[in-house]
Amino acid sequence: MSIESTEDQELTPRLEEGSADLASPRVDEASRSKIDFLDRMSHELRTPLNSVLGFTNVLLKNKKFDSSPRELDYLQRIRLNGMHLLDLINDLLDLNRIERGEMTVNLKDLDLKPLIEETLDQLEYFGLNKNVEAHTVVPPNLDPIPADESRLRQVLRNLIGNAVKFTNEGSIILRVEAEGPTVRKIHVEDTGMGVAPELAKTIFLAFEQGDGAKTRAQQGSGLGLALSRALCEMMGMQLSMESVLGKGSTFTITLPPPS
Ligand SMILES: Nc1ncnc2c1ncn2[C@@H]1O[C@H](COP(=O)(O)OP(=O)(O)OP(=O)(O)O)[C@@H](O)[C@H]1O
Ligand SMILES: [Mg+2]
Repeated sequence: MSIESTEDQELTPRLEEGSADLASPRVDEASRSKIDFLDRMSHELRTPLNSVLGFTNVLLKNKKFDSSPRELDYLQRIRLNGMHLLDLINDLLDLNRIERGEMTVNLKDLDLKPLIEETLDQLEYFGLNKNVEAHTVVPPNLDPIPADESRLRQVLRNLIGNAVKFTNEGSIILRVEAEGPTVRKIHVEDTGMGVAPELAKTIFLAFEQGDGAKTRAQQGSGLGLALSRALCEMMGMQLSMESVLGKGSTFTITLPPPS
């Protein structure tokens, strides 16, 4: 995938012939109808789901709602599962947008520290196991980085969501690597189940879930890494992984060298 730059820093991915990643090169008629169908379907799913989430929130916020602790727990579960489903539908829509060549990113100077801290705050949402300790390591006084804030947030959420999902004990660390004030890399490290070497490439493909049996014990559809890698590439960044099976994984976002 290459990147086309215009004056206002809007970047549009160009799909290249022969590229083997999710942004497949030729969108022929059959795939276009499939893409259109998925697009319509995702929108159709999103509308009722937003209403389910909206009314659940109304009930959760209503202090006069006379619910037992158990009912409250059910409502919270409806909300959490609904939000996970919404994430999934949004991922599907984004992947479609990338396949159609309609996705753009908007690079602006971004202060990384608050975004990293905000990501850590979301660990609860992903259901962090009590046996797992999580923290950030961010050097002080960093220069801003060129990034699309919402897209980088989406990538970090995907990576941290995976780290939480596949780590039962130990730690999760969000580590920023810098040279002086210049950010070079962002690592999401975990001490979870790790990835077998032969799966290191396939897990970055859409709908691939690594070791089927182990992974399917967890929720997910295999979209997160494919989408995250594509989004990183659109921002001029690279997403890679190092892992030792049974010991843990480190997913690394490498920033482009400063110009
Ligand atoms: N931190 C991790 N530790 C171990 N395995 C991982 C980790 N992150 C990803 N994987 C493996 O890579 C596969 C693909 O990850 P990906 O995020 O694309 O999909 P998913 O998490 O299964 O589903 P989704 O992200 O769509 O909810 C996972 O199913 C898992 O096998
Ligand atoms: Mg995932």
